[in-house]
Amino acid sequence: MSFTRRQILAGLVGLSVVGLGAGGVRYWLGRPRAGNSHDYELIAAPLDLELVPGHQTPAWAYGGRAPGQELRVRQGDWLRVRFINHLPVSSTIHWHGIRLPLAMDGVPYVSQLPVLPGEYFDYQFQVPDAGSFWYHPHITSSEQLGRGLVGPLIVEEREPSGFVHERTLCLKNWHVDEQGAFGAFSLPREAARGGTPGRLSSINGVHAPTLDLPAGQVVRLRLLNVDNTLTYRLNLPDAEVQIYALDGNPVAPRPLGKEYWLGPGMRIDLALKVPAVGTELSLRNGPVRLATLRAQAALEPVAAGGSEWPPALPANPVSEPDVASAETLRFSFEWVGSLSENTANGAPRSYWQINGEAWDISNKNCADKPIAKLQLGKSYIFELRNMAQYQHPIHLHGMSFKVLSSNRHQVIPYFTDTYLLGKNESARIALVADNPGSWMFHCHVIDHMETGLMAAIEVAD
Ligand code: C2O
Ligand code: CU
Ligand code: CU
Repeated sequence: MSFTRRQILAGLVGLSVVGLGAGGVRYWLGRPRAGNSHDYELIAAPLDLELVPGHQTPAWAYGGRAPGQELRVRQGDWLRVRFINHLPVSSTIHWHGIRLPLAMDGVPYVSQLPVLPGEYFDYQFQVPDAGSFWYHPHITSSEQLGRGLVGPLIVEEREPSGFVHERTLCLKNWHVDEQGAFGAFSLPREAARGGTPGRLSSINGVHAPTLDLPAGQVVRLRLLNVDNTLTYRLNLPDAEVQIYALDGNPVAPRPLGKEYWLGPGMRIDLALKVPAVGTELSLRNGPVRLATLRAQAALEPVAAGGSEWPPALPANPVSEPDVASAETLRFSFEWVGSLSENTANGAPRSYWQINGEAWDISNKNCADKPIAKLQLGKSYIFELRNMAQYQHPIHLHGMSFKVLSSNRHQVIPYFTDTYLLGKNESARIALVADNPGSWMFHCHVIDHMETGLMAAIEVAD
């Protein structure tokens, strides 16, 4: 396997800043490819945050904020990001949910070498799908994501969607104490169970904020679970609210209902009809308030149509799997108590396995032994079996899949990149293996992923 050479920042030439956007430096990466491109320079660096009033938290941030700078691109266009590493550790960026070539996928030793402190890496790829996505490192993940290296990536529809107003809400619980100091991002006893939870809830880096929304208008709320561990049981009591997209893929609009379980890595796009001026709604995780949504008058120019429910969002160009001819592969997600001793070389313990294999994050060659080999262009059904009493948001890189059915609840089939596999649940998903490469397939509870629940799936001719 060959990788793009690492690049060293000190030797950087030919980079000229052409303008300052509100979201940071926009600059010129060289000759544009065919089509439009959206160019960013994204610096990852330490940043002190005041998460707890009066106290500093030594976070790590993209573009000077945590969660990171929002990147926006239009469907079908190029996203070009020069990632500059000013962290004290090596890093990479993975573009969660984006179907792209392997070399841009940000997985160390599989798609690229780690970007060392002081180095940079140019990511450039075309985005085929519109929707709410996000980005994060794929190396020492519990600490890097835990310290704040998570950010939204919004892909706008090719044509105006009909939404006039929108907000991006990144949900994260910070692993901090009352003084704002970080505690452990991953504890063995928690990693072996549901994952290590953070204590302080936040939306866009603020605990229990009040968010002003335009009264009487329909607002698209893009909710992104960028947390390491938690499944948020989202609900908005007494609100007129419809689901428009799940994990970046449109669904036929339907009411949010009692609650929606948004696992780590997952996203939901809601349309909320904001009530009359002065009314407050509570966005909650189960019974716990995450934010207050306050209806305000004339916050922004009221555009025509802003109070109407937009039509369903257009489908993304994801290949429809041929379920009738598909080959079925089985994946069991198991808990392995017997492996729970520290390994001889001090590597993280392993508590989890997929089909009897535990991924070892300290072994650079794990991806050379894919758990499954798919033939390019063929359709597959994956039967996912959760053998444990903890849920696993199962995520696949490089391709979207269609959720077909579950033994636990009624499924309206839909495309996604992450499926929340409940306690002892079995589910069937299907996909067309249309992207060649070695793709990570893992649980998005970060300390599950780091203690075994990851595998590589190879797609080749
Ligand atoms: Cu959010 Cu391996 O990914
Ligand atoms: Cu991903
Ligand atoms: Cu898991």
